[in-house]
Amino acid sequence: MTVGIDDIAIYIPRLFVDARDFAKARGMDPDKLQRGLGISQMAMVDTNQDPACMAANACLKIMQKNDLSPNEVGRLYVATESSLDESKAMNSYVIGMLEQVYGDDSFGHCGGIECKFACVSGSYALYDNSNWIRAGEAEGKSAIVVVSDIAKYDLGSSGEYTQGAGAVAMLVNDRPRLLEFDPKVTATSIKNEYDFYRPFGKETPIVHGQYSNLLYLLQVKKALMLYKEKALSSGLIKLKAGETILDYIDFLNMHLPYSNMGKKAMAYLLRHEWRKLPRWKKVIEKIGMEEPVPKDPRGTIESVLADSEFMTKDHEFTKKFTKTEEFQEAYDSKLASSLIASQMIGNLYTASLYLGFRSTLEFEFQKGTDLEEKRFGFGSYGSGSSAMVFSGVIKPTYKEIVRDMNLESEIGNRVKLSLEEYEEIHENKRGLKENFLKSKKEFVLVDVKNTPESSGERRYVYNS
Ligand code: COA
Repeated sequence: MTVGIDDIAIYIPRLFVDARDFAKARGMDPDKLQRGLGISQMAMVDTNQDPACMAANACLKIMQKNDLSPNEVGRLYVATESSLDESKAMNSYVIGMLEQVYGDDSFGHCGGIECKFACVSGSYALYDNSNWIRAGEAEGKSAIVVVSDIAKYDLGSSGEYTQGAGAVAMLVNDRPRLLEFDPKVTATSIKNEYDFYRPFGKETPIVHGQYSNLLYLLQVKKALMLYKEKALSSGLIKLKAGETILDYIDFLNMHLPYSNMGKKAMAYLLRHEWRKLPRWKKVIEKIGMEEPVPKDPRGTIESVLADSEFMTKDHEFTKKFTKTEEFQEAYDSKLASSLIASQMIGNLYTASLYLGFRSTLEFEFQKGTDLEEKRFGFGSYGSGSSAMVFSGVIKPTYKEIVRDMNLESEIGNRVKLSLEEYEEIHENKRGLKENFLKSKKEFVLVDVKNTPESSGERRYVYNS
């Protein structure tokens, strides 16, 4: 049965911090952010915005754009790691907001939950909703999967320059105009880890940055190996001598905590796949050095990170590899367009991968690339940790959706925050009603109760 993404809508807050201002204020070289990590701007929420209202704004956009009525939506899932409550699910807030527009109880039979697994949960939500449709339970209805997050790290930490905020809503059904998922190839990997986590009550995460970078690569590679096994055994992809599975992925979308992580991941996966192929000999000749191996190739992530001789050599090798014509060709044709939105917006945790997908669609379309029947591979990663690799093929009807995409006009007039203003928001020094921007045609948060009997109750309004 055909199942896939029929349409996609984004909500990105209009406030932002400029990476150059940020670098100056923190005494950093701006090139580290712009060239080293690929960060130009970071979107920030206003004082009256939270992950639930961003999610509702993205859902409203997708519903209005497709003229959908609530009874055509059978499930609404929210995937987030910016939860507002230990018990009440974020989709209930979203439904409450949507019912302000569509009427009381209009979503009365729309099932759904909030999903959590760091940045990967949106992919699990998409997979589960696709299977709800495949099982014949949807009866022609669509599911909306919305991923929404505020990526927030401690002031002065190395994570602080990988912040951002936004939501992406995806309409999933059995008649997708955009992308059809490849069946029976979705592959996962999982391991109990502490690379990044946020204990109860803490607003910012505890992060082991370099550890999380490496774990991301290992987990995605592990999931890719299972994806490969499934794609070959199911006959979805047939490899000829000297080929790799990645030759059959026309566009690669990776989880993007910062845009250069996509490039790092692609380099890592290509190295893994190419080193067994005849083409590698030529690449090694161009690099001019052998591929380094750690002192203890079967060691732990800690032992690999502590092997400074290997880490230095491996870094040098990767840099040289990414400068080869072979890598550049794969990078330009498969990945580069997915990174553009991330550079402009920053980290969206669960939503980063899907903003990257949207970015590929918009910017490849602008280049005049024919995307019809092209296979998109997705490498999703969530700390803690789990990865999911899956793929889908672009439908002939995709132009109907993609021709109207325009990231800049969809975000609207962006307003740059000074570093003082940013820090006031970050440290929660401004009250809910001391918002910077006047909102129009969107949901905003207007009250959070603090009396003992209703502590934490949130109220939202739609500003028409
Ligand atoms: N000019 C240009 N590039 C520069 C530079 C300069 N002056 N100084 C440093 N760089 C480059 C580094 O070479 C490196 O790029 P490379 O790895 O491609 O060589 C990059 O900038 C980052 O620098 P580095 O010092 O390695 O990183 P960091 O200590 O600042 O931490 C993160 C980076 C991502 C680990 C950190 O921001 C973090 O913890 N983020 C949150 C967690 C996260 O995103 N994890 C990812 C997996 S989910």
